Amino acid sequence: SKNIVILISGGGSNMAAIVRAARQQDWAGRHGIRVAAVLSNREAAAGLAFAREQGIATEVLDHKAYPSREAFDAALAQAIIAHDPALVVLAGFMRILTPAFVERFAGRLVNIHPSLLPAFTGLDTHQRAIDAGCRFAGCTVHEVTAELDVGPILDQAVVPVLPGDTAQTLAARVLAQEHVIYPRAVLAHLLQK
Ligand code: GAR
Repeated sequence: SKNIVILISGGGSNMAAIVRAARQQDWAGRHGIRVAAVLSNREAAAGLAFAREQGIATEVLDHKAYPSREAFDAALAQAIIAHDPALVVLAGFMRILTPAFVERFAGRLVNIHPSLLPAFTGLDTHQRAIDAGCRFAGCTVHEVTAELDVGPILDQAVVPVLPGDTAQTLAARVLAQEHVIYPRAVLAHLLQK
């Protein structure tokens, strides 16, 4: 089997898109591809309810309950490994991971970032793209390496920045494309394994 473990912190719309894609594509099921668990660092993450409704195992690890980043990441790694993951998917997971964690899951850890990397790493990407006068924005699926928002690019999608856009309107246009490219990239990456 090819288990996917998805890490979220919030709405989980990318997670939901991946769950739906894995279930809708017959070939994914034939390859044993399934979302085995959804883990969150926040109990309040709205995406947890969707995952539970779908009958997917969920677990919350509150980062504030751990004395250090290293201790949190060690617990997180244990929770992930319990689900025998072929791929660990960061989907709006808003914690920086330690080099030891990234090393442990090297080659099977992917992220989606709401910009056209290498532009606009970090936070507040949409406002920064608007402020820079960008005509285009987008999103990037990439392999996770020790450095934040760097790492081999697996897929990207481009959207226009329109006159009058706010960070919110641009974010919504980009998020719709995230839901297209992330499931596709995750399933394609798993088929290569
Ligand atoms: C998405 O736009 C994702 O690209 C972004 O957070 C949002 C999560 O939405 N991720 C980052 O900013 C990572 N630094 P979702 O919870 O609905 O998938």
